[in-house]
Amino acid sequence: MSDPTHTARRTVLAAGAAALAGGALTACGSDGEKTPQGQSNGSAPAPAASTAPTAATPESGSAGAVVLVKSADVPKGGGTILKKEKLVVTQPTAGSFRCFTAVCPHQGCLVNKVENGTIDCPCHGSTFAIADGAVTKGPATKGLAEKKIKVAPDGTISLA
Ligand code: FES
Repeated sequence: MSDPTHTARRTVLAAGAAALAGGALTACGSDGEKTPQGQSNGSAPAPAASTAPTAATPESGSAGAVVLVKSADVPKGGGTILKKEKLVVTQPTAGSFRCFTAVCPHQGCLVNKVENGTIDCPCHGSTFAIADGAVTKGPATKGLAEKKIKVAPDGTISLA
């Protein structure tokens, strides 16, 4: 009798080994947390720059009002443009002063000339009357807005 009871059971366990072989694991590429940069980390800018336009009155004629110009500096029948303040002070007739914005109502240019009874805008040629700021020539359709001023006894002109 030949009984091939040769149960050579080979449990094939080889499969598992391969899995372990390639073990050069990529160890989870996180090299720490990102360092927070650009946050406000104490490097605050210098203390309040002192360039704010404060009311540093060079010479205030009356009660702390900022002097715009001296009446003697405004030509009769003309005017003076104050670029920094964006204002125009005019003297249509002797001793009477008016003040207007220097910003043209057409497209916002600053007027740049007071001549022949008008305040002139260089951008598109609008002109305005020195007496009341009304349009004397377009394309502007609105006059220059008037600002209230006061003239001190010493002749200094300031915003009212
Ligand atoms: Fe003054 Fe146009 S902005 S005329």
